[in-house]
This record gives sequence, C-alpha cells and structure tokens, in this order.
Amino acid sequence: MGDRDQAIMDALPEAPVTPAADALEGWRSGVVYQVYPRSFSDTDGDGVGDLAGILDHLDYLNDGSPDSLGIDAIWLSPIYPSAGFDSGYDVSDYSAIDRIFGTLADFERLVAEAHRRGIRVILDLVLNHTSHLHPWFVESRASRTGLRSDWYIWRDPAGYSPAGRPRRPNNWVSFFGGPAWTWDATREQFYLHTFLPQQPDLNWRNPAVRAAVLEIIRTWLDRGVDGFRFDVFNAFFKHADLPSNPYRLGGRRAYSRQVHLYDKNQPELVELLAEIRQIVDELPGRMTVGELFEGSVRQAAAYTAPGHLIFDFSLIRQPWSARAFARAIAEREAAFGPGGWPTIVLSNHDQSRSASRYDDGPHGDARVKVAATLLMTLRGTPFLYYGEEIGLRDVAVPWAEIQDPAARRSRFLSSWWNRDQARAPMPWGPGPIAGFSTARPWLRMSPESATRNVASQTADPGSVLSYYRRLIWLRRSRSALSVGSYEEVGIGDASVFAYLRRAADQAALVVLGFGRRAVTVALPESPSGRPWRAVLSTHDPLPPAGDRLELRPLEAVIFVDD
Ligand code: GLC
Repeated sequence: MGDRDQAIMDALPEAPVTPAADALEGWRSGVVYQVYPRSFSDTDGDGVGDLAGILDHLDYLNDGSPDSLGIDAIWLSPIYPSAGFDSGYDVSDYSAIDRIFGTLADFERLVAEAHRRGIRVILDLVLNHTSHLHPWFVESRASRTGLRSDWYIWRDPAGYSPAGRPRRPNNWVSFFGGPAWTWDATREQFYLHTFLPQQPDLNWRNPAVRAAVLEIIRTWLDRGVDGFRFDVFNAFFKHADLPSNPYRLGGRRAYSRQVHLYDKNQPELVELLAEIRQIVDELPGRMTVGELFEGSVRQAAAYTAPGHLIFDFSLIRQPWSARAFARAIAEREAAFGPGGWPTIVLSNHDQSRSASRYDDGPHGDARVKVAATLLMTLRGTPFLYYGEEIGLRDVAVPWAEIQDPAARRSRFLSSWWNRDQARAPMPWGPGPIAGFSTARPWLRMSPESATRNVASQTADPGSVLSYYRRLIWLRRSRSALSVGSYEEVGIGDASVFAYLRRAADQAALVVLGFGRRAVTVALPESPSGRPWRAVLSTHDPLPPAGDRLELRPLEAVIFVDD
C-alpha cells in the first residue's frame, strides 16, 4: 500500500469488515450480467438499444435450462432521462425512463418477465451528481436564496485576479480533466463537479438532498427492483471545509497528481450507507453494490457490509501472468478475510474489454476462456459485461464517430481513453447489423460480428459462449464454486495458478494455465482423499483422473473429488 492509500485509509472511520457470505446466499453470490442498454438490442429501429430489446433476450440470459447463459441478475446501466453528456450518467429525472429506452410500462414488464425467470434486476443510481439540466440544478443556479440554492456545492471565489477574474475555491480537479469548479455568472459563485461541468455534484450534507434521494430509492424498490449499483459512491461526501488536496508526484493526468484526501472517502459515508441499507433491507434478499471510484482493495473491503458489495478493479489492472493474478488475489483475500465477500470484475463500460486486454492474436480465444474460468470460479460475486461471454473485443472508433463526451474533450484537457470502444452494439447473429437493429447503430459494430456473434457461437460447441454456458451452469450446481472458501494451491510452475474452493461437503480444484507451453504438474491431495476428476476444461478431451496433470497450453481445468 502506498502513502496515498495509507492517507486515505487513515481518513476512513473504523468501518466494520463484516462477514457478508451468510447474508449473500442465493442470487447475490450468483452471476450478475451488466447490460449497457444502448448497445444491447434495438427493437424500435432507431439504432439505440431499448428495454424491449432486453426483454426479448431474457431467455438467452436464463430460461432455466443449460442452453441459456444461466446468469442470476442483470444490472442495467442508467435508463433514466439524461442530457446525454455522459451516456446516461448525467441524470435529469431519477424517477422516469428515458424515452429512447421505452416507458415505465416497458420497465415494469421487464421486471415482471425477469422475475418470472428468476432473474433479479439491479438499477444503476448516479447520486454523486445530477445533470446540469436536472430541475434541481436549474433551480439551484437561478439564485442564492431559492429553495434549492444549497442542493449543490456552491462557493464564493477565493478572491479575484488583478484582471478581475474569480479565483477558484480550492485546487480540486475534475476526473475528466480541467478544474473541478465552474463559474456561474448568475450566482457569481463556483459550483463543484467531480466529472464534467454538465455533472454538478450534489450537496449530500443538505438533509433535504438526502431525503429526496432516499425517496428515489424507495420509488424504485416499490417498482420491484432487487438492488442498486451506486455510481462513484465513495465520492458522495466531500470534506465540509473543502480544503485543497495535497499534491503528489507522478501520473499523466492532473487528477492522479493529487492525494484525494478531501474530495472523497469522508467518514459520513458509512452512516449514509447504513441509512440506505435500512431502506433496502426492508425486504430480505436485496443487494447493493458501490462503485469504488479510484480506491484500494483495503478500502473496498472496509466499505463492504452485509448485502452491500464493492467493486474494486484490482483484477482489471493485472497483466496476463499467473503470478500477477495470484498476487492480486492474495491481496484481496487478505483485505477481505475469509468472511468478507468481494466482487469479481474483468470488464465494464469504462474499461478496455478483457478479451482485448488479453488478446494475443495467434491463440484466438484461448486466453479468453482461461479468463472466463477465473471470473466464474474465484471467491466472490462475478460481474459479466455484455459481450464478454462471446469474447467481444474493443472496437476502434474513429475520432469523427466518438460519442463519449469525456473522450472528445480529453484531447484538449487530459488524456482519457475513448470508452466507446468497449460499448459496441451486441452482435446477435450474422448480417450487416448483426441482429442488433434494423437501422444504423449509434456506435459501429465490431468488424468481427459476422463471425463473432451469439448465433454462430451457440452453434459451435467449442466457442467462448458454449464454454461460458457450461462454466456458469457448473458454478450453479456446485456450492464449492459459488460460495465455498478459497485457498491458493502451490503447484510448482510459475505459469500455472491453482486454487481450491471448499464448501461443507464438496471441493473443487481450479487449475489455470497462463503459459504457451504444455506443463506437467502434480495435483494436491483432495480433501476427500479420492482422486480428482476433471469436470470442465477449456480443451477437448477432459484430462484423465489422477494426481498428475498434463496441462496443455493455455488450458484451464476444474476438478471435483466426489
Ligand atoms: C462512473 C461510471 C462512468 C461515469 C462516471 C461519472 O465511473 O461508471 O461511466 O462516467 O461514473 O458518472
């Protein structure tokens, strides 16, 4: 842990690292599938995905049979009316559905149909900031004395330059580049935005804001949702006095050249979380997950609570190396402890897709299948990003077609990668638009979509999709894999990473080969003393039972001992 992390940890309260496993039985320890609604399936021919498109593919996600993917829950990236400056992460009405996605009736149908199939629905709540076009902000910026004047973080200038220019209240910078303060000529004050100027930060210290947001949470729970993902939840509170952050060396972006002591991770968050949990827990079996915005594994563990998970992205940062993953996972396990419950994330709408990060051309999808095995067999709740199950790669989007405003603006203000590349429309079948839409899609399709699509991979037993299906259904059928304990196993080869998962009455051994060469490894003795029996491999045929394994290049194998 670096100095920066230590400083942040010191700023944290003594948060309870709570045994979450018990509270997470059932779907919450199951597989969550992230749908990026814009890119999933378009039914009304406008080139943008919609709720009816998600409904059309629920059977694909889980119809109760092993021919479907077998996921337990869907997380929908924001579906609320938005001004579109951050693809839905700038909400202008928290209680409605953006027309582009459909209607409230469509949403209610989607929830009912998902529930009929045992699929839970998690919504993405973006509560650190609203859109600048949200009526709350429109009202707030209109005057210094109005009803909502204190709903956002407004500050007087810290003086004026000799030329009469207002000076910013402190040194904070926006994550997307440029200062975190924008001058408002009407109020003659600055307002704070951790992200774009079109995403003003809410003032969570104002009880009226808190009450309004809790009301929104209730509204969606009443509409039947099973949980929420809280966007950048550890940034909700800023230090009350807004002191400047200390500077640090390193990092290409101004944001990473500060120690974020005062603009996030404030102690008040823990109490807020408890209040939110109280509402969410009024009915059993709901779940929330907070997006840890630029934080350490230790912070992720500290913020985890029963029924409340935290995304930490430490696995995304690992290079393709058995040792690197083993080390990162050991660190996570140490931070969470055997009773804490982590999340497992290799891809999402903000990051380069795992299949691209691990792509090594000549081996096609071999690494993708090893990564799939890791995702589905580590201890924790796996989050599978749409398209990951077919090994979808990032899609190069030329400058003129970039939609992501953060990427468009990054050219001038900071280097920020173009997230559109990880948001390509889902290829469902052959044809120019791959069954995604009948119109030109909002983002270009993957150039591979004629061959890399759901229909062709369904027909191919050796495809990534067929492998994911077998893997997820195996996970569903084995408590050792879904909720069991985790123990790394030394297997005597630096290119192999292996671990044991154990539940009360069963065990599974997972062996992941990261290398290009075949190796022979000795398997540890099984807990039951019976020989290990392979139940799934990325390669055909399954390896024979026994205490030695001839691992083929880039092969992953799951063994059981019953
Ligand atoms: C989160 C979202 C990202 C968004 C940002 C601001 O990190 O995942 O897509 O741009 O928050 O809301």
